[in-house]
Amino acid sequence: MPLSGDQHSILTVGLNRFQPVSGQMAGSEATSMIGSVPFFSGLDEKKRRNIASQGKELSYKPGDKMVDEGTTGVGFYLILDGKAEVRKGTKVLATLGKGQFFGEMSLIDEQPRSADVVAVVPTRCWALTSWAFAGLVKSNPDIALQMLKELVKRLRAAQSSPTS
Ligand code: CMP
Repeated sequence: MPLSGDQHSILTVGLNRFQPVSGQMAGSEATSMIGSVPFFSGLDEKKRRNIASQGKELSYKPGDKMVDEGTTGVGFYLILDGKAEVRKGTKVLATLGKGQFFGEMSLIDEQPRSADVVAVVPTRCWALTSWAFAGLVKSNPDIALQMLKELVKRLRAAQSSPTS
């Protein structure tokens, strides 16, 4: 079966759409970034370095679609810097920036991507494959809890936004 959307970008490591920007795997910036976001708070330096090394840094231009609605999800993304919009059709559901994550929903429920995620300025992400993501969440309950907190926050924001 042909690969589509971010399935292609994750699996073609080293090819054009999956570009490590800092030498091998994610570098020290990713490690310190991982330490500075609430999502990974509570992890010691060694664990953070280990987690950082499992991911890749990717860079995107404004307008690049990082996640395609309806495709099979194989990546989890943390924004290192830049800004991205979560879009469903013409509606912008959310704007995400440094330290925020996306792409977790498809990896959790194995359903197609729920929305597009598009870079609106030059954006760099740290990305994990679905299998590394599963290992990360299973072995770090603090991370699972942080993710639940963020998901609840997003659900509350969606509940309080006006319906169209
Ligand atoms: P996923 O469905 O895998 O791919 C699209 C991603 O957009 C989704 O995971 C979430 O990470 C993100 N997303 C979807 N809906 C919202 C929302 N209402 N607020 C913030 N992020 C969202």
